Amino acid sequence: MPTLVIVGAQWGDEAKGKLVDVLGSQASLVVRYAGGNNAGHTVIAGGKEFKFHLIPAGILHPGTKALVGSGMVVCPKGLLEEWDRTIAQQSELGDLIISSAAHVVFPYHRMLDALEEEARGENKIGTTTRGIGPAYQDKVARIGIRMGEFVCKKRFPRRLKEVLEVKNRYLALFGKEPLSYDEILAEYTAYADRIRPFVRDTEALVAEAVEAGEKVLLEGAQGTFLDLDSGTYPYVTSSHPVAGGACLGTGIGPRHIDAVLGVCKTYTTRVGSGPFPTELTDELGDHIRTIGKEFGTTTGRGRRIGWLDLVALRHSCRLNSLSGLVVTRLDILSDFETIKVAVKYKLDGQEIDYLPGDVEVLARIEPVYHELPGWKGDLRSARTMSDLPAEARAYLDFMAEYTKTPVAIVSVGPDRAETIVANENLIWAK
Ligand code: IMP
Repeated sequence: MPTLVIVGAQWGDEAKGKLVDVLGSQASLVVRYAGGNNAGHTVIAGGKEFKFHLIPAGILHPGTKALVGSGMVVCPKGLLEEWDRTIAQQSELGDLIISSAAHVVFPYHRMLDALEEEARGENKIGTTTRGIGPAYQDKVARIGIRMGEFVCKKRFPRRLKEVLEVKNRYLALFGKEPLSYDEILAEYTAYADRIRPFVRDTEALVAEAVEAGEKVLLEGAQGTFLDLDSGTYPYVTSSHPVAGGACLGTGIGPRHIDAVLGVCKTYTTRVGSGPFPTELTDELGDHIRTIGKEFGTTTGRGRRIGWLDLVALRHSCRLNSLSGLVVTRLDILSDFETIKVAVKYKLDGQEIDYLPGDVEVLARIEPVYHELPGWKGDLRSARTMSDLPAEARAYLDFMAEYTKTPVAIVSVGPDRAETIVANENLIWAK
């Protein structure tokens, strides 16, 4: 049963969208399992640039079912804009399906996200202010409105009334005027009318595809260290990007996952606040940000840049039980004399080789680097491992050896074609 999870192995933005697009062409079902439109996945295909925040990138393949999973929180306006934009770019798409158990993001979630961030002052998380945290708070508090209720003409008005009464009291605590029930109802009823045909119970559909031995791809968003439990709490998102989240956010049991690919860059980036051991706050960081065009797809914010942190990556391999690495942006590191990778940390004068769990400790550690020789030239035309310079291959070998995880795929550019399959057997379990 070839069920494959694709997970971000660092702090998000590892170029998962491209990979989901490339492998999505081989899958019959692609399910996104966590997050909302805080994510941004870019796919370049046929000379066009597609941007996805909610819809699985697999939608670009006619014949593929692209499912918005039960673990997601969905902004209906954002979803419809994305659907309209994508269909205007490419008329033949896969089938969009939305889980009736996914939660809906409302204007009060976005307002509370911004207000709570402001109230945190210096300790702000640096959220995307898309209302993601407050929507997941409602889910856990058991007052959230799920897609199934949202598209039900009878239930939605009653549920909105119930919830809005509570939310308006919260907004009053922040000195805000109450939101109008009639206005939200009118606007969101119009969205619900358009979204209704896509919404259905999805657990049986997913289970049947898995049982039939179809290729099922479970698409993660964000990254391992933004996971609510396993990440650098509290500087995390409110969902479970780790591979375990793929079971929770789709309804597939753990024994049905056959392979887990972890996507990581050849360097590290992070958006928002929180510790970042290998961060480069100097000109070198600025240089990599510029050549790598490291600006957020969702917010446009400049990403924080650092060298590859192998201690953190090995931690991620363990947390996600990675069967293979997908190494992206190898082309960006061309033309450096030497390249550094963190192989240990120094904590209070002692060397350690694990990632501390507490953010205060993590903020105190210093990376211990190993230096590897760089390589020259443009890698974007490389299509096999042997097309790569020996130093680039040695860099990949060092990553694999240190993390005890083999390299499955290498990406040398943003286009679909700029991809090297290093080990086909690691992708879909036979
Ligand atoms: P939220 O998910 O908007 O609540 O933001 C929480 C943290 O996760 C912030 O540091 C965000 O910058 C970060 N974050 C959320 N989504 C992404 C993503 O798709 N890529 C990278 N960082 C993200």
